Order: sequence, then structure tokens, then C-alpha cells
Amino acid sequence: MAPMNALFSAWVNLRNSLDWWLRNSLTWSPSAREQAEEKGEADARETHFIANYFLFSARQRMTNSRWQRNLAVLERLESASRSPALDKLLRQTGPLRILDIGSKNFDYVDALAGFFSRCLSHRDVQITGLEIDAHRRYTDLRTRRAWAEHYVSFVPSARYFAADLLNHTETYHAITWFFPFLTEFPLLKWGLPLSLFQPATLLAHAWSLLLPGGVLILVNQTDAELETQCKLLAELGAPFDPRQGRVTVAYKTSAFISSNERLTRNG
Ligand SMILES: C[S@@+](CC[C@H](N)C(=O)[O-])C[C@H]1O[C@@H](n2cnc3c(N)ncnc32)[C@H](O)[C@@H]1O
Repeated sequence: MAPMNALFSAWVNLRNSLDWWLRNSLTWSPSAREQAEEKGEADARETHFIANYFLFSARQRMTNSRWQRNLAVLERLESASRSPALDKLLRQTGPLRILDIGSKNFDYVDALAGFFSRCLSHRDVQITGLEIDAHRRYTDLRTRRAWAEHYVSFVPSARYFAADLLNHTETYHAITWFFPFLTEFPLLKWGLPLSLFQPATLLAHAWSLLLPGGVLILVNQTDAELETQCKLLAELGAPFDPRQGRVTVAYKTSAFISSNERLTRNG
């Protein structure tokens, strides 16, 4: 790294570390309440999502911009469902436990609940959102957590934790992970300290939470990040289906043996 860039990163890291400490010291927030917004007539794409994933009332109670973010998530999930591994999982009717990593304010929880409970067959789901930086405050003085708790209150199958993925130990049938940090720059821009930059460790932990037959749905920001993501998956020995754009579906077969286990068994 050039000295100027290194100096700049060190400065941003210092500032982010201080902000991080401050916001985790002052976590109280007023409660949040979303104002429903009038929407025009649903177009063909919206009608498809509303009917398939039972989102009529969700659309009515949301702001326009939150509705659009839910549609974007549904598009990603439908791309992912072209993966044979996810298709197989979704053809089962048993209950599914789903984890979303780095959920921010979880404003897309309706899309996750709608998709996983209705795609290909109908089933019960439990949706869990995890966010390490949940006490980040918006200009309305409410925190991400306050907004997430409000959004989750409309989705009985969902819950949200202000928590670090590395401290989470429950296991899941499917894990969604939208835009993980794979280089330092986006993490610094997002306002986090560099101590939280540990892509390989986080991926290995996420993988350890996946049940046999489960899938990890990853979405990356850029082609360069997608390349890095695939390298990390390969290092972990995690198989993945052909990518759909920047959506990758890694899967754990029942007979899956992680590379570490294989090393141990072979001596
Ligand atoms: C680029 S943002 C993506 C936000 C959201 N998933 C979306 O699609 O808009 C990545 C998120 O991961 C969170 N994150 C980073 N490390 C984490 C960890 N160890 N545990 C839980 N969340 C983490 C960050 O705080 C950030 O909110």
C-alpha cells in the first residue's frame, strides 16, 4: 500500500474506532415507526412477487423506498434459486431455519420471510438477522436496532440480534449474506474499525453454522469481490453452484467433509 493510502486508512480507522466505541456506549434509542406511503398500481414484476410471496399487506405498510429494497432482495433470491442445491432445499416442505448475516436495520426481512416460506412449496420458517453494528444511529436519532425491531414486529417468524457472527452458534438450513466485506476499503467506508476485518474467519464460522444439505447464498458488490469470494470458498473446500451474476450459492452435502477434517483423517 502507498504511504499516503496507508496514512489515510490509519486515520479513517482511528476515527471509526472512536465512533464505534461511542455508539456502543450509548445504545438507547427512541422507538421507530414506519409511515406507510401511497403506491401506484403494481407492475407485472411487483404483481409476481406479491402473489408468489404473499406480500400484499407488506407492500401497503412500507415506504416506497423500503418496498423497492425488498423487491431487489427478491430478485437476488430468485436468481439464487436457479442453483440446484437451493432448488432441492426449497422443494422440501419441512420447516427451515434461515440466518441473514450483517442485516443492517433488517428492512428486507419481509422479502426473506416471503421467499423462504413460499418459494416452490409452502413451509414454516424462522428468520434470524444478525448485525454487529446495530447501535449505529440515523439522522432521526433512532438506531438500526430500533428500526429492525419495528420491521420485525410485522413478521412473526423473524427475530433480530445485535450481535457478532463469531459469537453466534445456532445452526441453519440456509444462510444469506449480502455484500460481505472482502477488502478493507468498503469496511472503512461503512464506518467500521479494521479490527472487524476478518473475511476468511467470518466465512469459516458462517460455514460451520450450516447444516448438512444447507446452502449459503452470497451476493457480492463487484466482480473483483466475487473473485475473492470464490477463492475464499475454494480455500474452505466449500462447493458452489455456477454463479448467477454476482450471486453465489455454496452448499453442504450430507457427506461433506471439511478440508481440516480431511487433513486430520489422512494424518
Ligand atoms: C455491506 S453491509 C450489508 C448490509 C445489508 N446486508 C444489506 O444488504 O443492505 C455489511 C454488514 O455486515 C455487518 N457485519 C460486519 N461484520 C459483522 C459480524 N462479524 N457480525 C455481524 N454483522 C457484521 C456490518 O456492520 C454491515 O452492516
